[in-house]
Amino acid sequence: MSGARGDSNVNHVTRTNQIEGTRIPTITIAICILIAIVALIISAVAISNPAGSDITVQGTTANIQQNQPPSRAYDAINRYQASNERRIYTIAVGYDTGPYVYKDVSGFPIGFNHDLIDAVCQEAGIDCRVVKEPSTNCMFSERGQPHRGGIGLMEGWYDACTGWLTTRERKQIFAFSKPFLKPIEVYFFAFPGFNPFNITGKKIGLISGFFSNEACLAGLDQVTGRDVPHSNVFHAQTVDELLAMIQNGTVDVGFSTGPSMATKINGTNIQRFPSDPMFCKNAGQPGMMTRKDNDFNSKWNEGFEKLVSSGRFKHLCDEARIKHGHLGEIDCVDA
Ligand SMILES: *[C@@H]1O[C@H](CO)[C@@H](O)[C@H](O)[C@H]1NC(C)=O
Ligand SMILES: *[C@@H]1O[C@H](CO)[C@@H](O)[C@H](O)[C@H]1NC(C)=O
Ligand SMILES: *[C@@H]1O[C@H](CO)[C@@H](O)[C@H](O)[C@H]1NC(C)=O
Repeated sequence: MSGARGDSNVNHVTRTNQIEGTRIPTITIAICILIAIVALIISAVAISNPAGSDITVQGTTANIQQNQPPSRAYDAINRYQASNERRIYTIAVGYDTGPYVYKDVSGFPIGFNHDLIDAVCQEAGIDCRVVKEPSTNCMFSERGQPHRGGIGLMEGWYDACTGWLTTRERKQIFAFSKPFLKPIEVYFFAFPGFNPFNITGKKIGLISGFFSNEACLAGLDQVTGRDVPHSNVFHAQTVDELLAMIQNGTVDVGFSTGPSMATKINGTNIQRFPSDPMFCKNAGQPGMMTRKDNDFNSKWNEGFEKLVSSGRFKHLCDEARIKHGHLGEIDCVDA
């Protein structure tokens, strides 16, 4: 029975009861009265709620986070947006990813990602603040499970995570800006003598949330045994943990990105294999990753396009290679 019928009948119910009392069972009438009362209460509450935007926000939140209550932090961001105060965008960067994020001698975080965020936000005319976060709060994965959105980004602790590649799995969860780097190469990391073209029976270490995951492995046509059984997959939460797992024999080999491991294996007897880079079929290029209901990417893309068309992006990349290049290559998109 529809609410509309209950509504329109609200004044007639008792009369109907008297006139057609013999034909309509009393229980049906009682239900109609109940529904009419509930409908009245609901419409009264809806009218008295002045914040229309809150309803929309809760609607979208509920759609995406089916198993989690709407977060207060996220509501706060949206209320801020709704008002005319200058919005502060918070952006998560990781800890140490070669030349992209690292610490200078005084422990201050620097790197290409920091330079880029400063430049793009300036061009976009938005106020951006960087927060350091574990990458698993942006995206995480467990053995045999599809990628999941990290709690930090899902719950709106910040607006965007920096330098995440598009993948089909990730695009179902999050939205991506225009890419600023070329695709990232992946390698096996193991002790000397490892054969990267046959990983049959090997225990493989992956980093939670990274695109260098089971799906990527399965797409490496040149590698025998690439369909790794779940029982042979082990997840590290950080690059350092993966390194430790290779060193202490928890896994036979680690599988990760070139830039994340380049400086880490320096000074160890862990090597990267094969000599020619491999690329994940399922992965695109790095950009900014946000919730799908966040407006950050449109602002960022505007700023990024200005940076590119003015030639300043190319200049920024050239400078970054001089400043940060000792920690590895910085592979900007052509501009
Ligand atoms: C791959 O390695 C497995 C286990 O060592 C071995 O049984 C198999 O013959 C190898 N396959 C190829 C194509 O080399
Ligand atoms: C190997 O290192 C990992 C990561 O630090 C640790 O969790 C694990 O307990 C270590 N295993 C052994 C056998 O030392
Ligand atoms: C590797 O270590 C050596 C010596 O410790 C250092 O000179 C070199 O710059 C390091 N390379 C990288 C890529 O960190």
